[in-house]
Order: sequence, then C-alpha cells, then structure tokens
Amino acid sequence: MNMKENTVIVPSSDLHQLIKDKLEKAGLYTEQAQEVANHLVFADSCGIHSHGAVRVDYYAEQIAKGGVTLDPQTDFEVTGPSTAIFHGDNGVGQYIANNALAEAIPLAKESGVAVVGISKMSHSGALSYYVKKAAEQDLIGISMCQSDPMVVAFGGTENYYGTNPIAFAAPRKTGAPVVFDMATTVQAWGKILDARSKNLKIPNTWAVDKDGKPTTDPHAVNGLLPIAGPKGYGLMMMVDVLSGILLGLPFGKHVTSMYDKISEGRDLGQLFILIDPKRFTDLDLFKEKMDQVVSELHETKPADGFEQVYYPGELSQLNYEKYQKEGIPIEKSIYDYLTSETVHFDQYGGKSAFAD
Ligand code: NAI
Repeated sequence: MNMKENTVIVPSSDLHQLIKDKLEKAGLYTEQAQEVANHLVFADSCGIHSHGAVRVDYYAEQIAKGGVTLDPQTDFEVTGPSTAIFHGDNGVGQYIANNALAEAIPLAKESGVAVVGISKMSHSGALSYYVKKAAEQDLIGISMCQSDPMVVAFGGTENYYGTNPIAFAAPRKTGAPVVFDMATTVQAWGKILDARSKNLKIPNTWAVDKDGKPTTDPHAVNGLLPIAGPKGYGLMMMVDVLSGILLGLPFGKHVTSMYDKISEGRDLGQLFILIDPKRFTDLDLFKEKMDQVVSELHETKPADGFEQVYYPGELSQLNYEKYQKEGIPIEKSIYDYLTSETVHFDQYGGKSAFAD
C-alpha cells in the first residue's frame, strides 16, 4: 500500500479481496461476491471510479436488507434462432449480467447475432466490462441498460429517464479491443456528489434545480441534463425502450430508484446485442481495419489544448494497463471503510437520490 494525499494505491488483487470479503460479510455467496469484485476492480482500474469500490457500501446495505435475491433462480429462455431473455430473478446485477453474457456469446457465434435481454436484475455497473469480454471473443458487443429516473425530460421540469448508458466494443488485430462506454447524461451523478463533498460549483450545463432551471449549486440539483439536449434525450428513450418496454419491465419514470426502496428487488433491464463480424466480412480484415482506425486517429493533428488524439475510450484502456501494473488509486475514505469491521453505514434506504 502506498499513499498520496487522500488516495491510497492498492494492488488490484488486494482490492479484489477486500471487496469480496465485505460483500460476503453482507451476506452474498462467494461466487457472486467474486464476480462483483471482478467488476468493481475492473471499473476502478479503468479509472471509472464512479462505478468501482465506491459502490460497495451501497451494495452491502442493499444485500444485507434483502434488496437482491441471494440465490436467484435464473433461466435462459431462447425465444428464436438469435433471441433470448435471461430471467435474472433480481439477483445481484454484475453476477446476473455476466451469466447472461456467457449464454449470449455462444448464441451469437452459432447464429451470427444474439439479441439477449436481461429481465429483472439489480444495478450492473460499468457496461464496458461486458462488451469488452464479448470483443475478446471476436464479437462486436453493444449493451445498454436502465437506471434511476434522474434526468429531466428535454424542455421539461420533471425527471423522466435514467442516465441510461450505452457501451460498444469491437476487436482489433493487435492490442486490446476498442471499448467506448458512456452515460447519456452530460455528467454522471457521481460527479455532482463529488462537487457536493468539496463544496465546489458545477458548470450550469450539467444539471437543473427543482424548477428545471440550470444550476451551478451541486446541493440544489434535482435533475441531470441529457447529453446534447434533445439528441441525448432521444438516446435515453431508445435505451429505455430496448432494455425496458421490450422486456415487459417498468419503464421511464416507473423505473425504481436506487435508494428509495432498498429492501425490494429493482426489476431493472439490460440488453446485449452481439454481432459476429465473420457473418459480414473477413474477420482478420475487420480487425486490421480497426487497427488502421486507431493508427489514423493517433496520427490526427491535435487541436490547441490537446496533446494527442485518442480513440474513443482509449483513456480507460491506458488507465487499466497502468493501474493493473502499479496499483489502483482508491479514495482513502473508501479504503478505510473496506479495511474496517463496518459492513455498511445504513445511509441509503428510504432516501431520494437527490437528498443531501
Ligand atoms: P465518461 O464521461 O467518463 O466517459 C465516456 C466515454 O468517453 C468513455 O468511453 C471514455 O473512455 C471516453 N473518453 C473520455 N475522454 C476521452 C478522450 N479525451 N478521448 C477519447 N475518449 C474519451 O463516462 P460516463 O458517461 O461518466 O460513464 C461512466 C460509467 O458509468 C460507464 O461505465 C457507464 O456504463 C456507467 N453507468 C452505468 C449505469 C448503470 O446504471 N449501470 C448508469 C450510468 C452510467
């Protein structure tokens, strides 16, 4: 362990053990705790700290209070040559999504494409984790999922959609797959929380107050803004239709809030679309062209204020390589919690996501 200001550098195997132990103490079975730990360590390694170890306290409280099914009775229901629904029985999100992916990959290889919906799960974290795994199997991976209704409808004053993320990955001939992964909001909720904790102002393009007015006060935030106005708003709708309405799940503002009813299953949905490039072109050629894209983007002349052009998502891959080797920077308060006897802090149940 090595410390810099308020950050602790933790080797990835140590972080994995700490997360797994904490989730097991909260009541999660080993195999599932292992999978959640794999996922959170991946997210922190990529620098996606909003979806890494910072979530353990919430997950532990949710697990301890019965908000996830500890022994989910899952079912992979094949509904056509390339379509299926993975029934997740409100099991812990990362475990359910990973198991659904493990079924979707062979289906895509067999039929050329797999469209697999996950019905009823809890929060499944950073979507790049799943699509990267698909791309490591020479498939193109696309995933999207529902999340809490925290985003103001474009032109309105009330929240309707979630931060509904979309992720994409494609294999390359050399190097790790290209992986791009984003929420459809200007900023993740975690960035507002960060500004609250530091009492910093936020740009007025991130969020609105209770009257739907743009705000620079993180404590006044009552709704997030979609990326690119009506365009991000439209993407959110697409995500909600494909991972909610299509699967017969609650949609839009009817999607449950993360914190409100912490003792109940969340009934969330997620979708995988996996495509086998071999069914459309020569696989090697596809992968070579992906390499060419990366090289050409790297050779692009940077604009003022930029040192280099990266391919979309490249910074996460660079973080991953560095942090896996040198250790992962973790907020000291999170490290202290993970190494303490406390299982969770009892701080989420019954609250609005926007409560201070
Ligand atoms: P972000 O805004 O930090 O990054 C978005 C994408 O842009 C990433 O792929 C990143 O690598 C890329 N990027 C950033 N700067 C770049 C640059 N200079 N050049 C090239 N590419 C660059 O991500 P965001 O929107 O904050 O999302 C974070 C995570 O939250 C994602 O993993 C997402 O899946 C997850 N999420 C999960 C939700 C859930 O309910 N499961 C809900 C919302 C988000």
